[in-house]
Amino acid sequence: MTPETAAVSPAATSLAINLPRLKSDIRGLSRIGRNPDDGGVYRMAFTDADMEARAWLLDRIRDAGLEASQDGAGNISGVLPGRDGEAPRIVVGSHIDTVPCAGTLDGALGVLVGLECLRRLRENDFEPGVPLELVAFTDEEGRFGGMFGSQAFAGMVNPETLLERADLHGVRLADAMKSHGMDPWRALDARRRAGSVAAYLELHIEQGPVLDRAGDHVGVVEVITGLFRWTVTLIGESNHAGTTPMDHRRDAFSGLAAFIRELPRILEEHGSPASTGTVGNVALQPGSPNTVPGVATFSLDVRDPSPVVLDALATAIREALSAIGRQRGLMFEFTIDSEIAPVACDGTLIELLTNLAAQLEIPHRRMPSGAAHDAQIIATVAPVGMIFVPSREGRSHSPAEWTAWAHIEAGANVMLGAVVRLARS
Ligand code: HGY
Ligand code: MN
Ligand code: MN
Repeated sequence: MTPETAAVSPAATSLAINLPRLKSDIRGLSRIGRNPDDGGVYRMAFTDADMEARAWLLDRIRDAGLEASQDGAGNISGVLPGRDGEAPRIVVGSHIDTVPCAGTLDGALGVLVGLECLRRLRENDFEPGVPLELVAFTDEEGRFGGMFGSQAFAGMVNPETLLERADLHGVRLADAMKSHGMDPWRALDARRRAGSVAAYLELHIEQGPVLDRAGDHVGVVEVITGLFRWTVTLIGESNHAGTTPMDHRRDAFSGLAAFIRELPRILEEHGSPASTGTVGNVALQPGSPNTVPGVATFSLDVRDPSPVVLDALATAIREALSAIGRQRGLMFEFTIDSEIAPVACDGTLIELLTNLAAQLEIPHRRMPSGAAHDAQIIATVAPVGMIFVPSREGRSHSPAEWTAWAHIEAGANVMLGAVVRLARS
């Protein structure tokens, strides 16, 4: 892309999205997988709810008159053909799978805004110079490690990925795909030809408090944080809760408790102000109230926008776990479930999105992303840009997740303007 791409004309923002139709789509998709007891959405990858949502989205894509398809990794696509069908295309997208007990907008908003943009262009007889494609990527949230669909799209999936990846309950990715009549090996065919994507844009909720606190309606993402995700196992000795003296125990859970106490110091000493560390899932064995736990297995999610800091944190965490093991007679082992490099968004796309927000007189700011996104995987094969909209009180991965309709409309119109501008360039 040339720097001129970032220049915007009044024409780029002459078209606006159809908010009532977008609202209807958001409400429609959010009903799939919603648990009435806690109000959360449960559309984890390759669950029945995810498959129902996929079918719903494919119907909406067909209703919009776009070319609907699904690749071997389960990525769902809708294409608005361009004058030059072979030219590198503009891709917009996100994901429709969720974490357990999720909110309404994480991922889904970006997919439905992308759909609305292509639909608006088609119904206004806008013929783009190059193909425009909407993609909903499979398993962004990580039931099976995370970013599976975008990694397949970018050619980062291999047979080991298919055979190794499993969820927290030991269900293998390949088996989950087969249970829905999909051949997991076809995920290897999902790779796009090098140079076939001219640019990728993703609209997403911020999932943090920055825009909400600042009163801005749109964020233009400059860098997307990197992360590593481990499953750590501390191994001690199960024993009787009543007869084992406290100083004779090899209690795996007390080792985990010691690590949790250490984590803030590790982040403080080896991380940056943007570093985070989270233990989100814990399992103790044998798990009976009157037995000293011999095994503690836990998830560890560590993030920072700097690869150097991430390496330093990984080293410091390994050293801390070794020290805890020595002090408490425990062994530890860990598996690396996911490693995603931090990514800088494309400078021209940042400029374009900022210019569009300014031209639309939308309060906006440039900012980093603390959440991981498919965009950072697609950045390995194309320039990427991201638009954030505010999360009310910074809440996400929760039924409390919400964004004001006016902010959704503002972000969607910036996305529409960017697609129009890129389709012309
Ligand atoms: O974990 C994340 O940052 C994203 O929500 N998958
Ligand atoms: Mn997301
Ligand atoms: Mn998420």
